[in-house]
Amino acid sequence: MTPILSVRDLSIDYRTRRGPVHAVRDVSFDIEKGETVAIIGESGSGKTTLAVSFIRLSPRSARITKGQILYTNDRETVDIQTLPDDELRQYRWSECAMVFQAALNSFNPVINIWEQFADTARAHGMKDSAKIHARAQELLDLVHLDPDRILKAYPHELSGGMKQRVLIALSLLLEPQLIILDEPTTALDILTQRSIIDLLGQLRKKLGFSLIFISHDLSIAAELADRMITMYAGTIVERASVTDLFYRPRHPYSVGLLRAVPRVSGAMGSVASIPGSPPDLIRLPSGCTYVPRCPLAIAACAEREPDLVPVDTPNHEARCIRWKTVAEQVGTAEVAVAEKIATA
Ligand SMILES: Nc1ncnc2c1ncn2[C@@H]1O[C@H](COP(=O)(O)OP(=O)(O)OP(=O)(O)O)[C@@H](O)[C@H]1O
Ligand SMILES: [Mg+2]
Repeated sequence: MTPILSVRDLSIDYRTRRGPVHAVRDVSFDIEKGETVAIIGESGSGKTTLAVSFIRLSPRSARITKGQILYTNDRETVDIQTLPDDELRQYRWSECAMVFQAALNSFNPVINIWEQFADTARAHGMKDSAKIHARAQELLDLVHLDPDRILKAYPHELSGGMKQRVLIALSLLLEPQLIILDEPTTALDILTQRSIIDLLGQLRKKLGFSLIFISHDLSIAAELADRMITMYAGTIVERASVTDLFYRPRHPYSVGLLRAVPRVSGAMGSVASIPGSPPDLIRLPSGCTYVPRCPLAIAACAEREPDLVPVDTPNHEARCIRWKTVAEQVGTAEVAVAEKIATA
């Protein structure tokens, strides 16, 4: 089956006064129909830069220096970069919808929720108010909100969790096949996060869309995803099923992220973070970008950036020449964390 989204060798730079920022480097991956893929990685690893390029909404200073983004629906395959503007408008929302990072604050404060739905619908050629109203009611019902009350409400009258539900409902307005959620739960408390994740799981089952879920929180991402992609310094360093990534991580950075997951039962302060900071994306080192922070680095690691190679199984890949040593060392600590997350 042709994947719904196929990203091939994609590189994206930002122009800055200091020189180009290499924010995304040689990223390739596919998303199958109905699949959920989580993209994880620390702040600045390139997750948002990558995702907004899928709907061609990158800032002006961004430039795709290499690669392709192909989208396939029931009828055809289109190249997102060369899509004519009118088709691009159609593609956004009705094929692929994105809920942006920090979108909770992006509501227009002076219009009520009904008008937010109506504006979005009209911008996409839906003219019949009665139909839009019926659709808005149906969608709000689907995200477990009381439509009559919510449609009359203004953004400031809603809690963070309610706003996120409204945004999810809005993203579904034109029945897209692919939904991108950029950190949809970050601003929410832990219980609200959980209810949003549950909701997304239900919607996905009911509506069958494909989902790209961006998060820096491994445990949240794992609850929803089929597969995970770990990004570091603009590139994919590991790609695996959720189970493989949690129980058999093969890149030291994934191991670091796993160890950084807060231990629920631990004392305050037991939340680890990975020591050190990511490299300067303008002056990248010649070897593996993780070397300065990597506990397993040897001289050869600094010579050239490793390729993304299959480890253990063909569907599990890591960009690390030391992956066998990682495999030997990944032991009970990670498994304990993985189990805690799995049973949380
Ligand atoms: N408009 C811009 N101009 C220059 N550099 C930028 C711009 N936007 C992002 N960057 C840089 O590109 C890199 C990737 O940023 P991006 O926002 O994609 O990361 P992210 O993984 O989404 O991070 P976060 O988890 O904080 O959202 C960072 O180093 C960032 O500083
Ligand atoms: Mg981001």
